[in-house]
Amino acid sequence: MSSPLTGQFPTCRPRRLRQFPALRRLVAETRLHVEQLVLPLFVRPGRKLRRAVEAMPGVFQLSPDELLRDASQAYELGVPAVLLFGIPGRKDEKASGAYARNGIIQQTVRLLKKELPELLVITDVCLCGYTNHGHCGIVHRNRSVARILNDPTVKLLARTAVSHADAGADIVAPSDMMDGRVHAIRAMIDQNGFIGTSIMSYAAKFASAFFGPFREAAESAPQFGDRCSYQMDGANANEALREVALDIQEGADLVLIKPALAYLDIIHRVKAEFGYPTAAYAVSGEYSMIKAAAAKGWIDERAVVLESLLAIRRAGADIVITYAAREVARWLKQGNP
Ligand code: PBG
Ligand code: ZN
Repeated sequence: MSSPLTGQFPTCRPRRLRQFPALRRLVAETRLHVEQLVLPLFVRPGRKLRRAVEAMPGVFQLSPDELLRDASQAYELGVPAVLLFGIPGRKDEKASGAYARNGIIQQTVRLLKKELPELLVITDVCLCGYTNHGHCGIVHRNRSVARILNDPTVKLLARTAVSHADAGADIVAPSDMMDGRVHAIRAMIDQNGFIGTSIMSYAAKFASAFFGPFREAAESAPQFGDRCSYQMDGANANEALREVALDIQEGADLVLIKPALAYLDIIHRVKAEFGYPTAAYAVSGEYSMIKAAAAKGWIDERAVVLESLLAIRRAGADIVITYAAREVARWLKQGNP
């Protein structure tokens, strides 16, 4: 007997598998799991400090003691890793605070590894939070023209990465987009004996307006110009694959794409092409947009966050970096509505 719907294909009824929650979950192709989440945290010198970041409700600049509390909370919820950004007490031309032996990140990593040895600590390796001009590299000024110098920057990035590895970081994550930095970092951390430290490179990082709120959180807005001479042009997908290929050749253990939602095609192509552990960063602007619309009652925060992160996973990301990691961990525990 033929189907009343199609006349021809009596077996084709996709809705059969959508009838009950358990059946829908049974056939779900993609899952979001707490073990895949990374929580970014911002640390600044001080004690008992918890400064709200206005553009990112629920995100704070924390002193190391307070950061330990938030990291413990995340760990207890099952979030396996944090990604640290530092706001130093002092900024200068050479980003000295980035590679200071007892800099804010180095101190915080030591504290975390002592108190929560099983929590994975990932450190952002870049200079923009530590330079007085807010660029990710060393600036050379010639009259009115300012250039970001590649190779001198790479040297300082490698020094920074070694200082993080020395403090006990499990993974260092260069986010600067200078050429050749993964090789330089790998060589220098190996030379210093930290062969077990992994590198997660921000392999394809696009010059994005979605980073806006982050620059308030990290106090790292460039004082002049923009980041277009080092971060990628949003028009370019093939170039993103070349960037990833280079970082893998240079020794990256994991690759990162950022932002996430506006670049799902890149995530998909990178995972398909290389099959490497792939992370995607749901950046500040993605977080703030959802928070703002939810605060107005225009969208359902939980549903929109979970749908967005699932899309990032479906595109091919193994690891999702999100400011909402703790809320997501709680929601996932509660199960599907
Ligand atoms: C700095 C850095 C940025 C982000 C991570 N590392 C900002 C930038 O490049 O301006 C953005 C993260 C976010 O927006 O959440 N190298
Ligand atoms: Zn930077």
